[in-house]
Formats: sequence, structure tokens, C-alpha cells
Amino acid sequence: MFGDERGCCFLVFSSFLEEELDEGLDFPAIPLFDLLLCLAEVVDLVSPRLFDHHLKVGYLAYRLGEAMGFPERGQEQLLFAGLIHDSGAFSLKERLEALEFEFSNLHYHAFVAHLLFKEFSFLPEISRILLFHHLPWEGGKGSYWQGDRVPLESHVLHFADRLSILFKADNEPLEEVRRVGEILREHVPEIFHPEVFEAFSSLLARDYVWFDFSSRDLHRIILENASPQKKCVNPSDFLALVKLVSHLIDFRSPFTVTHSAGVAQVALFLSKLVGLEKNKRFLFFGITFLHDLGKLAIPLEILEKAGPLTQKEHNIVRSHPYYTYRALASVPSLRVPARWAAEHHERLNGGGYPFGLKGEEISLESRIVAVADVFVALCEDRPYRKGLSRAEVKEILGRLASEGNLDESLISLLFENLDEIDETRKIAQEEAVREYQMFRSRLKDFRNKFFPK
Ligand SMILES: [Fe+2]
Ligand SMILES: [Fe+2]
Ligand SMILES: [Fe+2]
Repeated sequence: MFGDERGCCFLVFSSFLEEELDEGLDFPAIPLFDLLLCLAEVVDLVSPRLFDHHLKVGYLAYRLGEAMGFPERGQEQLLFAGLIHDSGAFSLKERLEALEFEFSNLHYHAFVAHLLFKEFSFLPEISRILLFHHLPWEGGKGSYWQGDRVPLESHVLHFADRLSILFKADNEPLEEVRRVGEILREHVPEIFHPEVFEAFSSLLARDYVWFDFSSRDLHRIILENASPQKKCVNPSDFLALVKLVSHLIDFRSPFTVTHSAGVAQVALFLSKLVGLEKNKRFLFFGITFLHDLGKLAIPLEILEKAGPLTQKEHNIVRSHPYYTYRALASVPSLRVPARWAAEHHERLNGGGYPFGLKGEEISLESRIVAVADVFVALCEDRPYRKGLSRAEVKEILGRLASEGNLDESLISLLFENLDEIDETRKIAQEEAVREYQMFRSRLKDFRNKFFPK
């Protein structure tokens, strides 16, 4: 059914998706902006200290760009860049370090974000903005860094970021922005671009900017302001973006490098076997890459802990599918697919989380992701154990099905096609390993070039 030769299944699937893309799909309208906004929110959940940091920086960079007379596209780029600027800081420690008001030159997390986002054709300029978002103005030689042109937008982002860090949310906003402005003024032009500071000064006369900036409702405010620029992603951009985001999720830890890629391929295989309709299957495949999106809200220090988790840490880990749902369901056209992704820890007997669903309340799509997730997780190494053998995997899955945790008919389907499915998983995961190795080697080159010992 999927090709006679072992090892070619993945290629068959890849080309099958490409053909479908060529034929055209009935694909929902998914604004790129909405996807980035939900990413921004979930990465800021990792600590209460980061509350709305990406949203605030995105909003402020957008307003500064507007005041500086950037064209609409430039303003949009600033907003997008602000929404994702620190997503390359993988651990909680790195995220909190980015909150320190100290000045260094290029930050490692800026390069990580640059590397990941430059793969996405929608955002090439944004990835350059991210690269230099901690570079001082004249202290960093302003418009060039080691022969590389530094976009003015990076300086806007830098200013917006530093202002957000100094701004105390509990204080009265109009007074607070003036207090912070005085501190920032002392660092012009050594750290901050004079034109950016001038734009900031002009914004002091617009009270609403600072009320917006301090608002608990900033998500909605940003949505309202950016609504005319709602460019939607096409199916291949959607796939590229979900893959990129899955790298943000998985590349945080060497133990999860291949997880989302493996789960997505196994889920796709099963969805084809159960005859999921073509348009739905495509969206299903894409969204499955994001089933652990909520893990971005979990400190890496907990995810990578080798020893047993405390009850509190365990609760924090259990929150990840909840955050997957909250983030994805904030995109109106993804409300149903958000459930397919987020219900992968629900169990048919009602023993799962976070919704405690039971039996028929769990859709076929969600059941498939649950099976794929467990299957792939059992095959992978974890900080506390090695990947299990085929016999052990079968034994555990069989038990989970008979105990009413996982769907028995899907487990049977998985067992009937185990050779092909496992081969597909391996090929997808080997590919993810190659991507990770390339990512690591580029990071190493970057370190050697800019931070030689
Ligand atoms: Fe940063
Ligand atoms: Fe930041
Ligand atoms: Fe999960």
C-alpha cells in the first residue's frame, strides 16, 4: 500500500504531500500574525517575570517604527520580530538573563533565533533583525558589525526590549515611562540610536501608547491594531512554519530533538490508514508537529531533570497540553485542530489530562496523536532511560490498549503495519537528527567567529 521497498515509505509520504500541495488544498485562512502571537504568548508563560514580554516588545517596536515613518511593511516586520525576539533563549536561565539590563554585544540567543527563523522564507529580513537585537549603536559601531550591515530595525527592537525590561508594570504608566526614559537617555548614542530615542520622545505625548503598553489586554489590542495586515500562510508555508516551531520546541533538549517529527510522521501514517479525508489530513499532519507546543512554557531545567520530579514539577509538566490548547485555540481557524494536538495525553478511560475526557469525547484525530506520541516516546531515549526494544514497546502498548488508555483498534492497526510505521518513524527522526546537527554546527561556527577563545 505504501510502496514495496522498506525504507521508501517516508519518501512516498513526502511526495504524496507534495502532490496534494500541487493539486491545491481546501486550506483554512491562518494569519501568520496569529501564529506568531500564539508563539509569543506561550514562550512568555515559562516564568511570571516574563509576563507579556514578547507582546510588549512587539507592540512598542511597532509604535516606534510608526513614529519613525517606516512603511507599513517595516512596521509589520518590527511587530513580528518583537513577538519572537527571545525565542532562541532555550532555558529559563537564558530567558531570565535576557532580562538583565546589561550591555553586551551579540547574544547567543539572538543567533539561535536568527538561525531558526532564517529557514522560513516568510521571515528572512526578520531573522537579520533578530540577529542584532542586542547590538549597541556606536559602542557596537552602529550600522555595521564585522562587515555585516545591521538593520535599523535591530536598534528599534533593542530599545523596545530594554525599555520593557526597565518598565515596572505596577507603577503608574505615564510617570513610569518618563522615569525609564531618563535612564535610557543617558545611553544615547553609545547604546541607543539617536533616531530611535527621538521617536520614543515623540511617543511620550501619546498617552494611549503607554496605557496600551501596560494593559493586561495587550493581546487583543495588538490584534485590533494589526488586523489590516493579516496575511495568511499558504499550505507549504504553514508546514514550514510548524516545522520551524517544532525545532524551537525540540531543539531545547538533546532528548527531544526528534520527537515532534517522529510523532507527526507516525500520526500521518495512521491517519492515512484510517482514511482521514485529504484536506483534514494535511492540517492534521501540520498541527501534530505542535502537539507539545505548551512545553515552551515549561522550564527546560524541569524537562531535562534526570532524577524523579517533585509533585510541583510534575504538575508543571502536566500543564503543557493545556498550554498547547490555549495557544493554538487562540487562532480562530485552528480551534478544532488545536484539540487534536492538545488532547494527546487524554485517555479513553478518563484517566488522562488536562481535560479529563472519556471515550467518545475524544476524537479519532486526538486518539491517533495519543497513540503516535506514546509509541514514539517509548522508542526514544529519555534523560532517565534508554529507548525501549520493539518487544518492550509492543508489550507496553498492548497493555495500555487493554487497560482502556489507548484506542485498541488504532493499536492493532499500528501492530499490523509496525515494520513500515517504524521505518517511517526512523527516517523522519534521522532527518531531524541531521537538521539538529547542522543547527549545532552553525552555532559552533558562530561562536568561533564572534567569540574566539
Ligand atoms: Fe534578547
Ligand atoms: Fe527581550
Ligand atoms: Fe506531550
